[in-house]
Amino acid sequence: MSDWYKRMFEGKMGEYWLSISDGREEATELQFSFLKDVLKKGLTLDLCCGQCRISLPLSAHMSVVGLDLSGFLLRTAKKRAKEASIENLHLVRGDMRYLPFKLEVFENVMNLWTSFGYFQPEEENEKVIKEISRVLRVDGTFILDMFNPGWLLRNFREKDWMESENYLSLEQRSVDWKSKRMQSRWIIVNKQDGRIDEISFDHRIYDLQELKELLSKEGLRTIEVYGSFRKEDFDEAKSGRIIIISRKT
Ligand SMILES: C[S@@+](CC[C@H](N)C(=O)[O-])C[C@H]1O[C@@H](n2cnc3c(N)ncnc32)[C@H](O)[C@@H]1O
Repeated sequence: MSDWYKRMFEGKMGEYWLSISDGREEATELQFSFLKDVLKKGLTLDLCCGQCRISLPLSAHMSVVGLDLSGFLLRTAKKRAKEASIENLHLVRGDMRYLPFKLEVFENVMNLWTSFGYFQPEEENEKVIKEISRVLRVDGTFILDMFNPGWLLRNFREKDWMESENYLSLEQRSVDWKSKRMQSRWIIVNKQDGRIDEISFDHRIYDLQELKELLSKEGLRTIEVYGSFRKEDFDEAKSGRIIIISRKT
């Protein structure tokens, strides 16, 4: 299971992921107006940008660098940028733990939709925050968007069947609260050709306090916390998301 993040966003699994992700139009619009409001003027790094759901529209307003490990998602982003004649978006293939950028080059870094906590041991996740802090300018902004385990605990569902135009999928979940990791298994049926794909994955779940501590250890001071992209106050029991805005000291 350790390298699941390499398989999940490529090939047939990548196509499935893209279909879910492209289906989030309403959330994307909300995130876009939130980000336009909180990002400072200057170069922005979309860390784990995927197909650049956010960075494609954002790059009409500022220069954006998108970094992701998935060749498939980056090719999709490149094609879409070309079709929309976007020039302000620069795409880089890389691993979030080893950023191929110089010290203090970005005014903003964002990491959206639970794109953090994928690695084991824990020091590998800490490397990501260290790298973010390294490439951010002093006083630069980091925006982290994770799901809220407080909500998950109260609304836990062991499995869900979902159906879209092209797929029928089963998601099974279990949480090991001791190691604070969530295990998931997806079984995906392609309705067009009957093909079945399956993937198991596992990632760390963090509460607000843990995230604040991780950030603060790397010189990132939390300045605001929201529970949604509507800028609702964070409520441990009710908020679906933990959205932290921090500043490099
Ligand atoms: C949950 S998706 C979120 C994508 C995007 N942030 C969004 O909001 O649409 C996670 C993304 O992280 C990327 N990813 C996974 N492991 C990575 C790694 N080690 N380094 C860089 N990107 C990675 C995946 O390819 C995928 O695009």
